[in-house]
Amino acid sequence: MTTTTRTAPASDIKDLNLAAEGRRRTEWAERSMPVLRQLRERFTRERPLAGRRLSACLHVTTETANLAVTLQAGGADVALCASNPLSTQDDVAAHLVRDHGIKVFAIKGEDHATYYSHLRAALEHRPDITMDDGADLVGALHMVALNRLDDLAPPVRQWVETLPAAQRKALVSGVIGSTEETTTGVIRLKAMARDGVLQFPVIAVNDSDTKHLFDNRYGTGQSTLDGILRATNLLIAGSTMVVAGYGWCGRGFALRARGAGANVVVTEIDPLKALEAQMDGYRVAPMAEAARIGDLFVTLTGNVNVIRLEHMRVMKDGAVVANSGHFNVEIDLEGLKQAGQGPTRVREFVEEWRLDGKRIFVLADGRLINLAAAEGHPASVMDMSFANQALAAEFVVQQAQRLTKDVHRIPRELDAEIARLKLQAMGVTIDTLTPEQKKYLVSWEMGT
Ligand SMILES: NC(=O)c1ccc[n+]([C@@H]2O[C@H](COP(=O)([O-])OP(=O)(O)OC[C@H]3O[C@@H](n4cnc5c(N)ncnc54)[C@H](O)[C@@H]3O)[C@@H](O)[C@H]2O)c1
Repeated sequence: MTTTTRTAPASDIKDLNLAAEGRRRTEWAERSMPVLRQLRERFTRERPLAGRRLSACLHVTTETANLAVTLQAGGADVALCASNPLSTQDDVAAHLVRDHGIKVFAIKGEDHATYYSHLRAALEHRPDITMDDGADLVGALHMVALNRLDDLAPPVRQWVETLPAAQRKALVSGVIGSTEETTTGVIRLKAMARDGVLQFPVIAVNDSDTKHLFDNRYGTGQSTLDGILRATNLLIAGSTMVVAGYGWCGRGFALRARGAGANVVVTEIDPLKALEAQMDGYRVAPMAEAARIGDLFVTLTGNVNVIRLEHMRVMKDGAVVANSGHFNVEIDLEGLKQAGQGPTRVREFVEEWRLDGKRIFVLADGRLINLAAAEGHPASVMDMSFANQALAAEFVVQQAQRLTKDVHRIPRELDAEIARLKLQAMGVTIDTLTPEQKKYLVSWEMGT
């Protein structure tokens, strides 16, 4: 169990003394978040979230700190827990507690039980609104709603069992709506809506164009490479990089890996994406083939067991394997544990396994490498993702009565407004349609 210091009655973080460093780094990130800054100014004036209790389960980073402070400026009473045991920046957690009085439950490297006791603390906040990155809060609330307490992690289950039936019901019915940050979470939520079990409306922040087109592509692209470099300090130029998945994240990462000089091989299961990768100039192959030639492997699929034992058995001696998809399920580490020997810690975030006399190096225990070994996405890209989150929370409050129990996206006008503000902040101006052009675009009479 992680050693924890209870530094404030309502929080569980590593060390409050780290707050000054967290504050400096959060302010540095804020410089690159002009859209969120503008929203914060408006939220301070208008207080759209006044009187709302908001529980967020997000990566506790400098960018998230800026979001949390924005939500608080809007009037929300915010509780924050980590959406991944390895991604917490302990100094940022300390800063939020000490300088803003925000309740934070997150410690980098926390074990499974602590992770879920922190999730429980976020639920004990009795939120009106939840904000997820991977649907963990919403998932737990739905296990309560469906009375599937055995599916809850023990720290959550034990607490829920102490609640009278009316309170359990109120825990779920008290939520007016939720927001979801990432692809994997949205997939889970859409499955819940399809099965008719979704208990409240959810805004899929990931579905906004100003989110996935930029965060998933440019954010994951750069920060995944950054995580691999910080963890290994390997030379990318001249290496063969196998990229599993050519979705938004995979495209971004393949682009950056190629830019650093790697020979990129893409694996896919979707013919359209595979065709796109081929025409973008990458070699496309099944994993069974790519496994034999890769030096480094990165999974970005949101799927399970994409790199399996049969693949690892044919990899070169010294192959490096990492994941940047949301959950640590993309590499079959269980299989490796059973068939291989190890792990031996080689350096921080690098573990050596022996398999059939060869070495395989697994980075960050198969967890998102960009958040475990680096600092996640640059603030400039999170500016748009978190502007979407803040607007989604406001939208939930404004529209709660009207929204159906389904997965929605924020209105396209808000999405376009975020893009407009971002361009403005970057000093980029664009053309506007002339009256003639407007007419031309809606008419069918004008030909050549
Ligand atoms: N690391 C980060 O900071 C970060 C940021 C955003 C999203 N994510 C996560 O990354 C994952 C991918 O997100 P995305 O937005 O790119 O999703 P996406 O749906 O755009 O792309 C996923 C791709 O993986 C492919 N795929 C599925 N199974 C596969 C398999 N067995 N082999 C090869 N390819 C396969 C799909 O066909 C698809 O093209 C999700 O888990 C998402 O939550 C991580």
